[in-house]
Amino acid sequence: MKFLVVGSGGREHALLWALKREQPDAVLLAAPGNAGTALLATNIPIPADGIADLVDLAARERVDLVVVGPEGPLALGLADRLRSRGIPTFGPGGPAAQIEASKAWSKDIMAAAGVPTASSRTFSDLALALQYIDAHPEPLVVKASGLAAGKGAVVCATRAEAAAAARAMLGTRVFGAAGDLVVVEAFLEGEELSVLALTNGSDVAILPPAQDHKRLLEGDRGPNTGGMGAYSPVALDTPELRAKVVSRVLAPTLAELARRDAPFSGVLYAGLMIDRNGDPWVVEFNCRFGDPETQVILPRIATGLVAALDACARGARLPDLTISSNAAVTTVLAARGYPDEPQKGAAITIPVDLPTGALVFHAGTRRDDAGILRAAGGRVLAVTGVGATFAAAQAVSRAAAERIEFDGKQFRRDIGWREAARG
Ligand code: AMP
Ligand code: GLY
Repeated sequence: MKFLVVGSGGREHALLWALKREQPDAVLLAAPGNAGTALLATNIPIPADGIADLVDLAARERVDLVVVGPEGPLALGLADRLRSRGIPTFGPGGPAAQIEASKAWSKDIMAAAGVPTASSRTFSDLALALQYIDAHPEPLVVKASGLAAGKGAVVCATRAEAAAAARAMLGTRVFGAAGDLVVVEAFLEGEELSVLALTNGSDVAILPPAQDHKRLLEGDRGPNTGGMGAYSPVALDTPELRAKVVSRVLAPTLAELARRDAPFSGVLYAGLMIDRNGDPWVVEFNCRFGDPETQVILPRIATGLVAALDACARGARLPDLTISSNAAVTTVLAARGYPDEPQKGAAITIPVDLPTGALVFHAGTRRDDAGILRAAGGRVLAVTGVGATFAAAQAVSRAAAERIEFDGKQFRRDIGWREAARG
């Protein structure tokens, strides 16, 4: 088969790695890819939002399956355009991708479908937002409705902080058009879990759930990031929880999307808060694989990934996946200054003798004209450790993260601390 993976991050490198592992003879293309994807695939220098060029590429190359990594091109309708040219594509069409691209619409879908989520209201008018905030219990959360590169949600301990966040979004317009609509919602207590489900539009196959670490610093302190590490399996995941997630969250959401002529296929990522009764509440939906969750989920899928992606793309019956009993932990190595002002350019040294079970996924890397590997983005690498137990996987990931070198390297040594604390 010939695959095209769209995107250039750690998620896309992991997708290519997983495709290659299952189909060693497959032809792999990445657009635009990074220095890591270049080791497995042919990188084509078309940016992920170059919709027309990507469609031409896939048609010209007679690609058997396109897998779209990031939300941006999905929201721009890349999957619709590819499908209209007869090219099987994994990822939702533009209307369904609004479940991530518009938090206001996503809340509306959840309300209509009766999906448990924080109570909220959506505003385009600053004065009305401030009035609502003024009467809201603390803490509370203020979110830019549109795509804001993971920075659009502000958890506010006080109403004053929430008012400042609303002013920044609706007044100063720090997120531009992404902040034209602002969602103000109640704070949910509990523990977060990322539950990603493959779907052909009606049937779902839950992938091994993962837990992400969004804060920059150890102990979950510091600013929010795209994700500094993740692990899977998570002990919070039980058959009872999965049944609730399917019946209360995924099935009603997919049905409501279909009812609104926005049928969803691909991977529906539910960012959940699990409360003390073990009940799931939706914090957000994403319309794509998580990053860095993918770097721990895919290494745990022993067989069936290609068939499942293909079935989602074609709207066919989902085949069974086999999941390995191994644990996986990934540690993100970020550039100095990440997340606010990441510095690019540092030369990277990856030792050839990393511990057994270490997988190095490139996120923001490039090779310069002299062939030297350099940092080219905020999150530079994601180092996954795979082992028979959580502790073994964590040790491999951490040891490999210590040994990879570049100037300004930032990483957390406590990825999976909740799991470790559970014993
Ligand atoms: P989001 O962009 O909606 O995923 O929000 C980013 C992060 O903010 C989430 O992963 C949570 O840690 C936190 N967050 C967002 N909304 C809420 C909420 N209603 N209650 C508690 N934490 C939240
Ligand atoms: N790791 C969070 C996300 O992919 O949105």
